[in-house]
Amino acid sequence: RLVLATKTQSITTMTTQEEECMGSVKAQLAKIFETSLKVTVPNEPDVEPLIAACTGKFGDYQCNNAMGLWSKIKGKGTQFRGPPAVGEAIKNNLPTSEMIESCSVAGPGFVNVVLSKNWMAKSIQKMLIEGIDIWAPMPPVKTAVVDFSSPNIAKEMHVGHLRSTIIGDTLARMLEFSKVKVLRRNHVGDWGTQFGMLIEFLFEKFPNFEDATETAIGDLQAFYKASKLRFDSDPAFKERAQQAVVRLQGGEEKYRRAWAQICEISRNEFHKVYQRLGVHLEEKGESFYNPYIPGVIEGLTKQGLVEESQGARVIFIEGVNIPLIVVKSDGGFNYASTDLAALWYRLNEEKAEWIIYVTDVGQQQHFDMVFKAAKLAGWLPQGDNSYPRASHVGFGLVLGEDGKRFRTRNTEVVRLVDLLDEAKSRSKATLIERGKGEQWTEEEIESTADAVGYGAVKYADLKNNRLTNYTFNFDQMLNDKGNTAVYLLYAHARICSIIRRSGKDIEELMNKGTLVLDHKDERDLGLHLLQFAEVVEEATTNLLPNVLCDYLYNLSEIFSKFYSNPECKVIGSDKETSRLLLCEATAVVMRKCFNLLGITPIYKI
Ligand code: ARG
Repeated sequence: RLVLATKTQSITTMTTQEEECMGSVKAQLAKIFETSLKVTVPNEPDVEPLIAACTGKFGDYQCNNAMGLWSKIKGKGTQFRGPPAVGEAIKNNLPTSEMIESCSVAGPGFVNVVLSKNWMAKSIQKMLIEGIDIWAPMPPVKTAVVDFSSPNIAKEMHVGHLRSTIIGDTLARMLEFSKVKVLRRNHVGDWGTQFGMLIEFLFEKFPNFEDATETAIGDLQAFYKASKLRFDSDPAFKERAQQAVVRLQGGEEKYRRAWAQICEISRNEFHKVYQRLGVHLEEKGESFYNPYIPGVIEGLTKQGLVEESQGARVIFIEGVNIPLIVVKSDGGFNYASTDLAALWYRLNEEKAEWIIYVTDVGQQQHFDMVFKAAKLAGWLPQGDNSYPRASHVGFGLVLGEDGKRFRTRNTEVVRLVDLLDEAKSRSKATLIERGKGEQWTEEEIESTADAVGYGAVKYADLKNNRLTNYTFNFDQMLNDKGNTAVYLLYAHARICSIIRRSGKDIEELMNKGTLVLDHKDERDLGLHLLQFAEVVEEATTNLLPNVLCDYLYNLSEIFSKFYSNPECKVIGSDKETSRLLLCEATAVVMRKCFNLLGITPIYKI
């Protein structure tokens, strides 16, 4: 049985559900090679097998241990005469396995493996029967926090928050697929001095604030801006605003109620976006952690980590030229104090073993310092490869056609809801243009336009390495050719229609028929399907959704090659059953990819 964990990660007892996971092809090969390595070099018991998929003509996978091992054992009286001989021995000492068809040693000792196509076919059929969960990764953590989306109260959710929402949701989904309990946290900015000025401004504008309707005060962003202007230009207002903060933070009823009312209005706005994107989050905003801050700072102070600097209390971190301010010179707390308290809470109260923060790269230094402070305090282990772990998932900017930060004509930041509206209406227009208006019900049009429109926005974001900036372009993302959600969604729908047109009961074929991978194009497709498990594992471990997008796009290309080859005719051929099963397996894997990317599949086009 396989456990996908490195030696530094502790694995406790597995539940039965985890027992059912098979592990990726790579992990299964690693297990076999581990046995061989132990026999080949008994004096080096801790060598980890280095297995990589390869596209060369020599095989499907490669074991790359020979060279490294040689440098460890040479000159120590070994019987081997160079890396190729070590490779040869690794090959000869492999236990027999139904996975492996043949092995060969090439170059400086690479051991190439050709997988058995019978084993491959059987594994795919097993996945069809038991479900794709048997290909789920097994990260060595039980509970994770994904802190994502996290917009600020009284401010508009902008494209940056869109990226955070989409990327965070995917990461949460990948971990959930791996049976990790994920606490999806919306760390909204609902606390801080800005509320004093906003509340004071609103009190002035609406003397009976409690009776003010939501529509009256709905445009919070505008009030916020106006209050900021007042704050900067009117000393008397500034004074009152500062007083308001004290009264609010001191818990004065009238102020608390106004604050709660403001939060509720923003929350309802955010919720509309989440609902459209199909994203679920649980709000624990900055205010939630506020009561924990004094205790946490006191703890850090007792440990001798907090020092006085220019009136503020700070933590000095080696290698970083600015200190982390944990108490401002006016005695107030800040973004960093809240994040320290939140991290403490997540580790100690929620027992999270992996805490993931999704924000733009601009906040990288902030998180780097918070994590380093946590390491100094001993909350987190020193290295980056062990758990509990905190990870910052940074992302780049969204750019407009002009290569500058994405803005609308009047240079306001782009409103998220407008983007989603446009994506949907454009995809709906295309459907109508294609005559679907006559063939489909109103409901089918709506749900397909939702799936395609929102799917296009999500995929255009996720397919890029998150650290790079990308250009937002509706025409590109809604193109039905190339690496887009539209192309992929249609490809999936086409596969479903092949299966429907066959008139066969696919469940019955799964259980009674046999999948074979005799043709090269069938085998290529089969191999790619089998690699799903290691790809999701890589995407999850490295927190890189684009790895999964690349995989999905390649899958549909490899499927096309198979399907368009006349030698691989599906319906009506003597291999019909097997090929329909291969079509179904492709559709199942594509759907899982969509599911992990938060994209709703469509079944007909
Ligand atoms: N509200 C912040 C912003 O809009 C993001 C919060 C991220 N999460 C955190 N724990 N700091 O920039």
